Amino acid sequence: MATTSLPERIRRDFPVLQRKVHGKPLVYLDNAASAQKPLAVIEGQREYLSNYHANIHRGAHHLAQLATEAYEGARNSLAAHIGAAHTEEVIFTSGSTDAINLVAQSWGRTNLSPGDVVLVTRMEHHANIVPWQMICEATGARVEPINVLEDGSLDLEDFHSALQQHQPKLVAMVHASNTLGTINPVSELCQAAAAAGALTLVDGSQALPHMAIDVQAIGCDFYVATAHKAYGPTGIGFLWGKKDRLNAMPPWRGGGEMIQRVSFEGTTYNSLPHKFEAGTPHISGGIAFGIALDWMNGIGMEQIAAHEADLVAHAHSAVGTLEGVRIIGTAPQKVGVVSLIADGIHPYDMGTLLDGQGIAVRTGHHCTEPLMDHLGLESGTLRMSFAAYTTTREIDVAVAGLARALAMLR
Ligand code: ALA
Repeated sequence: MATTSLPERIRRDFPVLQRKVHGKPLVYLDNAASAQKPLAVIEGQREYLSNYHANIHRGAHHLAQLATEAYEGARNSLAAHIGAAHTEEVIFTSGSTDAINLVAQSWGRTNLSPGDVVLVTRMEHHANIVPWQMICEATGARVEPINVLEDGSLDLEDFHSALQQHQPKLVAMVHASNTLGTINPVSELCQAAAAAGALTLVDGSQALPHMAIDVQAIGCDFYVATAHKAYGPTGIGFLWGKKDRLNAMPPWRGGGEMIQRVSFEGTTYNSLPHKFEAGTPHISGGIAFGIALDWMNGIGMEQIAAHEADLVAHAHSAVGTLEGVRIIGTAPQKVGVVSLIADGIHPYDMGTLLDGQGIAVRTGHHCTEPLMDHLGLESGTLRMSFAAYTTTREIDVAVAGLARALAMLR
């Protein structure tokens, strides 16, 4: 099927896309913040809550069994989707942030010592900076940044020299930047880091919705992502790690489910993945995450990626017609994210005027303040971000809306 027909085929799956905002048809271009949900996900969550809600892994009864099967079925789907060698290598978390904190607090607490270095890129989301700063503060290690070039690509020369200079214990890198759209060459970076003796953590939050993920081909030690940017619900995400590595890590959160036996003489811990999943999890979220993955795979990740590459090319040329507007992030490989700034105009003012026309974008620093500082963008950017259901027409509407906003603000 031709990629151009994709949105026409799937838009009816998304009830929210039929609504109006401020009397205008909604043009939803804030997918990097959170994607909208297809009916399959909405209905799947409703079906669980209506018909077979129960706590999982515990009850001896029928509903508990159904809920457990559905939740563990989602874990199986996720493991297959990312190419995990073993299902128990997939740990459900509340999102990418939670997954990175898990690694920082468990692996970091036991492996970082004074003087050690964690390398991160300057294009990381705060979620892949602050947990490392916190654990470094606690252990005496330190965080060192890798530079980003003017076009939004990672500075590979700086990356290789930082590996040599700092001999890091771990390199944390974003797979695709939420602000620039840049797709990093994660496989090449992980290979170089491993050769230098460092572990690697890849933040796939903005990659999971846009491309096929294969953790074996990437060659990382840890991979994290969240469901809500990939058509699933909020409050659920995952950590993938190699089984041996996860087995060697101590649990982070204590409580029910993560134990084997508890006594006042001493407590022993459960096996993977439960060791890292204390307490009752987000059951409906996990089940719906599995449905979202099935929904994406029903379309095909290659087709989604091809469609979004067309959208980026279209947006770059449409935005290029606007006078005094500059795209921030023009790396050769990008996901569906187009950030821009306009001479002398605050992104928030443009965003507010777009909202009045029913067009949803994000403005500001996008939780990447160090990147904004590095690029000298004090007021941040205006960001349009796309999904499988985004049309070129919506991009044209947004660019025309921007032209109107600029005329009012200049
Ligand atoms: N990290 C999300 C974004 O980029 C919230 O908007």
